[in-house]
Amino acid sequence: MLGKIKALLKEIEEAAPVTLAELEEFRIRYISKKGLISQLFSDFKDMEPGLKKEVGKALNELKSATLDKISRLKESMEETDDRSAGLDLTAPGDSTGLGSRHPLSVVRNKIIDIFGRQGFTVAEGPEIEDDWHVFSALNFPAEHPARDMQDTFFIEKNPDVLLRTHTSSVQIRVMERTQPPIRAIFPGRVFRNEAISARSHCLFHQVEGLYVDENVSFADLKQTLLYFARELFGEEVSIRLRPSYFPFTEPSAEMDVSCSICGGKGCALCKYTGWLEILGCGMVDPNVLEACNIDSRKYTGYAFGMGIERTAMLLYGVRDIRLYFENDVRFLRQFQSAI
Ligand code: DAH
Repeated sequence: MLGKIKALLKEIEEAAPVTLAELEEFRIRYISKKGLISQLFSDFKDMEPGLKKEVGKALNELKSATLDKISRLKESMEETDDRSAGLDLTAPGDSTGLGSRHPLSVVRNKIIDIFGRQGFTVAEGPEIEDDWHVFSALNFPAEHPARDMQDTFFIEKNPDVLLRTHTSSVQIRVMERTQPPIRAIFPGRVFRNEAISARSHCLFHQVEGLYVDENVSFADLKQTLLYFARELFGEEVSIRLRPSYFPFTEPSAEMDVSCSICGGKGCALCKYTGWLEILGCGMVDPNVLEACNIDSRKYTGYAFGMGIERTAMLLYGVRDIRLYFENDVRFLRQFQSAI
């Protein structure tokens, strides 16, 4: 009997269950009602009383050593099990969402790209401006009602420090520092003190274009804009130029494109006219060239300006300008673009 106990003790000491399931098997094999140690206990009952003292002691020691081992192993297994609970190290990692470009950036990049192919470079100017670059040099006479066309934000009650109301100010900055030929576009943010609604916002984006050289004509302007419209809206688009007025261009025009939704037949988007207004343009007024020290007898030029929000609304059929600024990912996710 003592020999059996010794052998079993050795076996138990050497056993090394690794998982909780293996430990349970170990417990059943030795400790359960029909386990090996329990069997020894029932053999023990029939033994000669003289031997019982020594064997009983050895048996008790065997049992408590086994129980100790089980509880030690169980504790350490549960610890490691807790830390790795639910962790599958072979599972693929979480992807970090890449996001998509904002629709206004997509459209701005498209516009830059289209004019870039026609030789236009890109320039930028400050958002905080002075009266000269936003109004005076652009031929807005002082106190002239034309200044009321744009509701200006002034900074610190100083009428000479203001947020630009249009990117036409960048025309002036570029012409002041460069002699013709000049062929560039100017994308940027502009600000107007307007009530926010589905159609207008106090902050929006424009792209201004300028071409000044010898012999630049209205026909050049028209051809450039037709190419632009076809590249942006598709080959089948038509354009139309309507006479208009801007202080800095003479003659001035507004350009419409045939409605992208109904193809010109008339629908709610184009208010049943078949046309959508997209930009203002014209021949640079000689006064503007002279204000920038460019000889208006030698050079002529054309200019145009468009709102990026409006262009993007027409391109994608967006009905509310506020969507561009709310950063709702469900809206933004719809715009995927390579540029
Ligand atoms: N600056 C004008 C605006 O904000 C847009 C514009 C019209 C720009 C005609 C031009 C132009 O260069 O020729 O409404």
